[in-house]
Amino acid sequence: MNVIDKKEEHLLELFSKNMIQDRIKELAEKINNEFDKNEELYVIGVLRGSVLFVADLVRHLKMPVQIEFIRLSSYGDDQKSSGKVKSVDLSLPNLADKNVLIVEDIVDTGLTAHFLIDYIKEQHNARQVKFASLLDKVCARIHPVNIDYIGFEVDDKFVVGYGLDYQGYYRNLPYIGYFPQ
Ligand code: IMP
Repeated sequence: MNVIDKKEEHLLELFSKNMIQDRIKELAEKINNEFDKNEELYVIGVLRGSVLFVADLVRHLKMPVQIEFIRLSSYGDDQKSSGKVKSVDLSLPNLADKNVLIVEDIVDTGLTAHFLIDYIKEQHNARQVKFASLLDKVCARIHPVNIDYIGFEVDDKFVVGYGLDYQGYYRNLPYIGYFPQ
């Protein structure tokens, strides 16, 4: 049996299900206005944290959409970034001359975002690469990155829910919260 030291009843809610869904609609509207409606958009989600965000966001997009996922990790089981991006699966179709939207759950130190934006721009020669993150932990930034679409800013808390995990748990929660210290 798995033992988890943090229980859901102790979680304090930061962003409710409705707040998240309303904000995603706003972000999608911006994305619909900023990309050509007649050109396909490759939405590239970063596993596993962005799964719920990607699933809800793409339902509001109006252009022809292709969905891809890549798998990276910089955290392991810890609550602190290891400082290195581990590429677990970076396989992608040919993105030359395509419009690309990279979708992350949270930008923390910026290491993952920085690596990914460079990788897609340089290795794939995409026409346009934009970056969306549901959360921006701006106070933790070490590697500066330009985020085109931000859901919410968070301060220096370890947050879980709506794709974000603690030791693999809580990704399924429809809201985002944190454990008080
Ligand atoms: P970065 O490379 O340091 O910006 O970290 C990005 C990744 O770290 C995210 O995609 C998350 O998987 C993970 N992460 C960062 N902060 C949190 C958090 O507060 N809760 C859960 N995961 C987090």
